[in-house]
Amino acid sequence: MAKSAFRPDDTTTDIRNALQQERKTKADFTSNIREGAKLYGRARACLQRLFEDLTHRRSLDLDIARDVVQAMFDNLAKNPNVLLWITNLQFPEESNACHNFNTSVLSMIFGRHRGMSRSDIMALGLGGLLHDLGKTHVPPNMLEKPARLTPEEWAIVRKHAVEGFEALNATGQLSKNVLEIVRCHHERADGSGYPEGLFGGSLPDLPRMVAIADAYDSMVGGYYRRPMTPTDALRVLKTDAAEEYGVELVEEFIRCMGTYPVGSLVELNSGSVVMVVASNPEARLKPMIMFVRNEEGRFERPRMLNDLSRHSDQSLAERWGIRRLVDPVSYGIDMWNLILEEIQF
Ligand SMILES: [Fe+2]
Repeated sequence: MAKSAFRPDDTTTDIRNALQQERKTKADFTSNIREGAKLYGRARACLQRLFEDLTHRRSLDLDIARDVVQAMFDNLAKNPNVLLWITNLQFPEESNACHNFNTSVLSMIFGRHRGMSRSDIMALGLGGLLHDLGKTHVPPNMLEKPARLTPEEWAIVRKHAVEGFEALNATGQLSKNVLEIVRCHHERADGSGYPEGLFGGSLPDLPRMVAIADAYDSMVGGYYRRPMTPTDALRVLKTDAAEEYGVELVEEFIRCMGTYPVGSLVELNSGSVVMVVASNPEARLKPMIMFVRNEEGRFERPRMLNDLSRHSDQSLAERWGIRRLVDPVSYGIDMWNLILEEIQF
């Protein structure tokens, strides 16, 4: 715990208790995120199996996917911040699994934020996890091509929505809602999407929600270009893409992610640089944070946590007020490595 957390009149017992509490908070956090990382591992294994089965034209068993999404649903019900934090973890060599898992998590969190039913949230989770299954048939060199696709290549890539839908529909194991998400996740509210070019009201809510989660994670994950900060990705959704996704739904997603999205790096008034690790619905400007760099510019290890909403002491609340969001690159901070270190710590 940073020394500045203590007041001059704190007794030794006060300080010892505070340190014990701080260590317990960090231990709980580490244990939770390890559990979240295991869920990612289960989702990755499930997706690999489905991709392989589809590649070899074997029948698809979707019970495993349903079990994984059920476990994710239960985890989110316990503490929605854990999986949200895990979505900031990116493995370049597993970008497909990461992105499908993240889209699933973000879609379910969006559904929870909108007060949707359990079955709708489960459909969002399953649809998010499976939305790009049809990419099994797209040559990897096209998916990873840094340059603009030729019209012929683009036509092949666009087929993945329908091919994923057809493969999953053939199983007879999924609801209409899940299938609709897979088929329509590239449809756009302004009619510019595919495969049908559906317009506005003819496009159901669930695929539109997954489309927003898909776009947001693609920007933050940097699958196609340099990764964006969560706040920059939300800004792009609002300024450049709101017509495509629906203005109101985009606004709702931005509210869902909060003023300081989990995974953001912020600077405190004290000069410390911290990472937002959990949002606080009762005090959105005072999230739970993890110290990354101290006031003197030194990197913290171990990185302790602090719930900014808990400080009633006025001077401390002022020192640890959030001054601004910052770009990790400008501070030489590799966010993905930092998250990975926390899971392995
Ligand atoms: Fe897609």
